[in-house]
Amino acid sequence: MPTALIVLAAGQGTRMNSDLPKVLHPLGGAPLFVHALLAGGALTPERSVLVVGHGAEATAKAAADFDPDLIIAEQSEQLGTAHAVAQARTALAGFSGDAVVLYGDTPFIRPETLEAMQAARANHAVVVLGFQAADPGRYGRLVMAGDRLERIVEYKDASHEERAISICNSGVICADAETLFDLIDAVSNDNAAGEYYLTDIIAIANARGLSATAVTCDEAETMGINTRTELARAEAVFQQAKRAEALENGVTLIAPETVFFSYDSYIGRDAVVEPNVIFAPGVTVETGARIRAFSHLEGCHVSRGATVGPYARLRPGAELAEDVHVGNFVEIKNATLDAGAKVNHLSYIGDASVGEATNIGAGTITCNYDGVFKHHTEIGARAFIGSNTMLVAPVRVGDEAMTASGSVITGDVPDGAIAIARAKQVNKPGLARKLFDKLRAEKARKQQKAE
Ligand code: UD1
Ligand code: CA
Repeated sequence: MPTALIVLAAGQGTRMNSDLPKVLHPLGGAPLFVHALLAGGALTPERSVLVVGHGAEATAKAAADFDPDLIIAEQSEQLGTAHAVAQARTALAGFSGDAVVLYGDTPFIRPETLEAMQAARANHAVVVLGFQAADPGRYGRLVMAGDRLERIVEYKDASHEERAISICNSGVICADAETLFDLIDAVSNDNAAGEYYLTDIIAIANARGLSATAVTCDEAETMGINTRTELARAEAVFQQAKRAEALENGVTLIAPETVFFSYDSYIGRDAVVEPNVIFAPGVTVETGARIRAFSHLEGCHVSRGATVGPYARLRPGAELAEDVHVGNFVEIKNATLDAGAKVNHLSYIGDASVGEATNIGAGTITCNYDGVFKHHTEIGARAFIGSNTMLVAPVRVGDEAMTASGSVITGDVPDGAIAIARAKQVNKPGLARKLFDKLRAEKARKQQKAE
């Protein structure tokens, strides 16, 4: 069955107390709305529509950055959840199949739950995701008759008896797209909130002889984010799950509670991650690599057997081949290091390529930026870069070449050559001792004067 996703994200999110639209606040390194799309991805949707309203421009931009195929539908006035879904109608013109409605601020719905809903569609026209609420509070209540869902009543409109129902509406709904829009056309705003409730489609469906049911999930999946406190709690839940997943996948985490992952982190089996490591988005670490304490990685790839840190920073475009060593206080950006290359101490390697088995001495810097343009540094294989070399890009150091410590390299170094680019050393015999005597005598004179 072809599927389309409709993710509602037009609400203001006032309680975040933020200039940033709620759904753009990051969770696990991705904007909140992305998590709903990732869960929905399990249904391999043919189209995905994000309904935006408050902060529409910024949200649409973030959506395009995440997935240029996402369709944006604008809801300029937030008149309720049914009205929000109706905004996706044009985007789904010509689509035939199921539509699944998700909320952009509800990140933990599991793909398996959506699959269970889709399976229930075999016997019912409309499938709603419900949950047993520990505290039903202000959630909409599911009025069931056996496995049939008769209607959903919003808290504000519920009677005393209806409020006693503890099975609640998560907001996730699945129905044939055409049927969904037909039902929404019949929704009015004649209720306590004066809103077009999506939940009203259940009673309308039943009145038309279409059956509805509810699939239930764990309440934890339905957690919505409304405040910064809830966002922080959600981040903790997210990290907890990611750590458990890494351990399950055979990754050693020495102090799991101090390691932070992103939604797309991939860490291979038998990799070791020491305490206090942050994986920002876009990181893959292969089998058997070791990420030592206090390292920060983003947009990079670490191959088998490589070691990183302690205190290393791998920025986007850092590509480490097998058995590469990147040591303490080293920053790598947009640079490839071939097999066995070593940059062990206090260096910046940016916009560069480093050949296999090359050793980069402590304090080496690729001077990649001239204030306007970025330039590339190429270092060959089995080369030796002396400590504290400045490589002023664009520049190339050949295979098996060397640079003398403290050199400022502004021109290419041929294969096999050594470049010495620093002032020649001059020794003045006895001059240091003379200078010391003079300075100490001066100090003694000054002390005498002061007494
Ligand atoms: C809704 C459900 C309620 C359910 C609860 C679960 C309705 C009428 N009620 O209530 O049964 O228990 O969610 O959390 O559907 N949105 C728009 N445009 C709008 C209105 C809402 O995009 O015009 C988006 C919001 O940004 C939000 C989601 O839809 O992501 C839900 O809206 P919200 O106002 O929070 O609904 P609730 O009143 O909580
Ligand atoms: Ca809500």
